[in-house]
Amino acid sequence: MTEFKQRIFSGVQPTGNLTLGNYLGAIRNWVALQKKYESIFCVVDLHAITVWQDPAALREATREVAAGMIASGIDPRECIIFNQSQVPGHAELAWIFNCVARMGWLNRMTQFKDKAGKNKERASVGLYVYPDLMAADILLYKATHVPVGEDQKQHLELARDIAQKFNSDYGVDFFPVVEPLILGEAKRVMSLRDGTAKMSKSDPSENSRINLTDDRDTIAKKIRKARTDSAPIAGTIEEMADRPEARNLINIFAALSDQTAGDICVRYDGQGFAAFKKDLAELSVSVLGPITEEMKRLTDEKTYIDQILKSGSEKARALSAPILKEVHNIVGFLQS
Ligand code: AMP
Ligand code: TRP
Repeated sequence: MTEFKQRIFSGVQPTGNLTLGNYLGAIRNWVALQKKYESIFCVVDLHAITVWQDPAALREATREVAAGMIASGIDPRECIIFNQSQVPGHAELAWIFNCVARMGWLNRMTQFKDKAGKNKERASVGLYVYPDLMAADILLYKATHVPVGEDQKQHLELARDIAQKFNSDYGVDFFPVVEPLILGEAKRVMSLRDGTAKMSKSDPSENSRINLTDDRDTIAKKIRKARTDSAPIAGTIEEMADRPEARNLINIFAALSDQTAGDICVRYDGQGFAAFKKDLAELSVSVLGPITEEMKRLTDEKTYIDQILKSGSEKARALSAPILKEVHNIVGFLQS
């Protein structure tokens, strides 16, 4: 794939608030990567409607996610930022991939099982083929690297399988085999109330997560209330293997301060959580406070955000059009 310099693609769903998990697992890493890679960041509204979204809330959340990316340091002059539905090629390539992927592959997807729950019969068909759309998002631009949190690893393996099967079915060397970039000390940020559950936008407990819309006092309060255990902090992260809540807070501290979890353990070795939490609250507020305030300001600037999404979509359409045309040609669709 020599015709492109290395390109990254990643996305966030506009469903509810951005969380500290989105920030540390994804967006913070994108900010660091944007200098090195040609970068495309997408607000994936087509993915969002795989579960019911109120239309007005969806519009609002789409702007809010875009504002969150920019407030976190994604530079819209350097990167493409857009919302997925403005580039029809995503849905089009996803259809072709629906015909490449096998039922057996999708049946193994743990996110579908988690989200559909016990009542699979009532889940939308979109939720089931969601990973095909995700593969299309990436491959529509022949992106080579995809920075995500750990929960997306299985979907990226499927994207690799789709790319390889397409190439081998049609006897071409067309799609690149994408590489996941799962980076940093907080690859999977856990709930502040339960160290065995992922921090998630959809958790009914507000105290389980930090939202990028929380003000400074709320952030500090949620950290103070975060669940821990009664043992002191150990000198190494390995010694805390079976203390998920404690380990999670150490990882968050490490990621927010650009240190390793090991560094943090050494610093607080033998101490209880009181001083640690006070420092973590201060650190969180100092890193997230300016982002949350800028995000709030930008969210109100609807025309500015809409303009960025529009111009991003135009660039994305231009990049993807020749690739999609080539796909049509490979598949055998007559083009007049
Ligand atoms: P989503 O909100 O599901 O669209 O996720 C957008 C991005 O944030 C993906 O790269 C996810 O892997 C990442 N992400 C979401 N929640 C977490 C979490 N709790 N820990 C780490 N990364 C996360
Ligand atoms: N499925 C991802 C999530 O829920 C979001 C996403 C959609 C994505 N398309 C993508 C991430 C393409 C990376 C690349 O977190």
